[in-house]
Amino acid sequence: MNVLVVGGGGREHALGWALARSPRTPHLHFAPGNAGTAALGINHAVASDDVSALVALARDLSADLVIVGPEAPLVAGLVDRLRDAGISVVGPSAYAAQLEGSKAFAKAFMQRYGIPTAAHRTFQALEAAEAEAYIRASFTAGRPVVVKASGLAAGKGVVVADSADEAVEALHAAFDGAFGAAGNEVVLEERLAGEEASVFALCDGTTYLVLPPAQDHKRALDGDAGPNTGGMGAYAPAPVVTGQRLTEICRTVVEPTLMGMQAEGHPFTGVLFVGLMLTQDGPKVIEYNVRLGDPETQVLMPLLPTNQTLELFEALAHGRLGALRLRTDDRHAATVVLAAPGYPGSYPKGLPVSGLDEAAAIEGATVFHAGTALAPDGSVVTDGGRVFAATGVGDSLPEALDRAYRAADLVRFDGKHLRHDIGRRALNRV
Ligand code: AMP
Ligand code: GLY
Repeated sequence: MNVLVVGGGGREHALGWALARSPRTPHLHFAPGNAGTAALGINHAVASDDVSALVALARDLSADLVIVGPEAPLVAGLVDRLRDAGISVVGPSAYAAQLEGSKAFAKAFMQRYGIPTAAHRTFQALEAAEAEAYIRASFTAGRPVVVKASGLAAGKGVVVADSADEAVEALHAAFDGAFGAAGNEVVLEERLAGEEASVFALCDGTTYLVLPPAQDHKRALDGDAGPNTGGMGAYAPAPVVTGQRLTEICRTVVEPTLMGMQAEGHPFTGVLFVGLMLTQDGPKVIEYNVRLGDPETQVLMPLLPTNQTLELFEALAHGRLGALRLRTDDRHAATVVLAAPGYPGSYPKGLPVSGLDEAAAIEGATVFHAGTALAPDGSVVTDGGRVFAATGVGDSLPEALDRAYRAADLVRFDGKHLRHDIGRRALNRV
């Protein structure tokens, strides 16, 4: 069986790692992959957003299944193109991917189906003066707003401003092209207070299965300081999402989202990733993503039974999820991202890496590669901002964290930086 995984980050290495554990031993292909995936299968030099080249590759490989990691090819219609070519795929259609690709679409969709979310207004670039007046009036009334570029901005299009001036500055930056076309439309949203959590639902259009809830750490530095990043660490399950809360989230968010998409003639297939704020008035959606999270995948995959990942994705692609039950175990997982010096700003590439073998020898730990490449001599060098995600699995969260940090400390490259407080919130809770 040939499986093609689209993407080249830590998420895709973790996906490949989980698929490789299947007793059916699928042949794994990655586009473009990284130094970690090269050890699991074949890397193909095709960019993860080159839709036509990806369709051609899937055809050439006679891929039995394609799993799409990142959002850009989903929003660009890769899934529709693969289906037209008769190829089974895990991911949403371009229409459904608008839930992530356009915050204006997502907000209007949630309004149509009564899905709980922050109050908002959408403004076009031509309405900059009105948007600015709205920001100033909101802050004056004691209701701060969050400024969001509507389109895809690699996690950098959201500014949680502390003052009206800061919000207005963010508004103009978006309209002036700081995020390219993604900022031509801006969503101004009520600022919510509470703890954040992420819920992942595997969806085949009609049925869904939820994975253990996770919590991400988006800011670059300890104590949630510094700029937003793609994510510096994660853990699962997140105790803040009690069983009762998860049931409520399924009933008020996941189910109406799937029903809404069906009603619009575009059933949602793939992974629905709901970012939530757990407010005093109940869970509210902060954002939808239409894919697995990175680094959340690096904690979710190790919690799935060894033989289930391939089975789940296959069932999802063929509309047969209803026949399966998810059998996650009771263990805990935590992952710590090792970032290049300067990330999330500019950073060097090509730094030599050492310590991977020592880290791999730690019981219950796996170091997933993210931005890595193989040098001509076969050694591993850094090749991105988030370089590795060191995951630990254990019977408790402290054990998982201990294993993750021991592995994280052993992997070395110049200027490595990591957060030291992954999972701290959950530890303080127990
Ligand atoms: P997003 O890219 O939409 O996930 O937003 C990035 C981060 O901004 C989120 O993880 C939250 O920490 C914060 N954020 C987004 N929307 C809101 C909101 N309405 N209220 C408070 N914080 C928010
Ligand atoms: N870790 C957040 C994301 O994948 O969007």
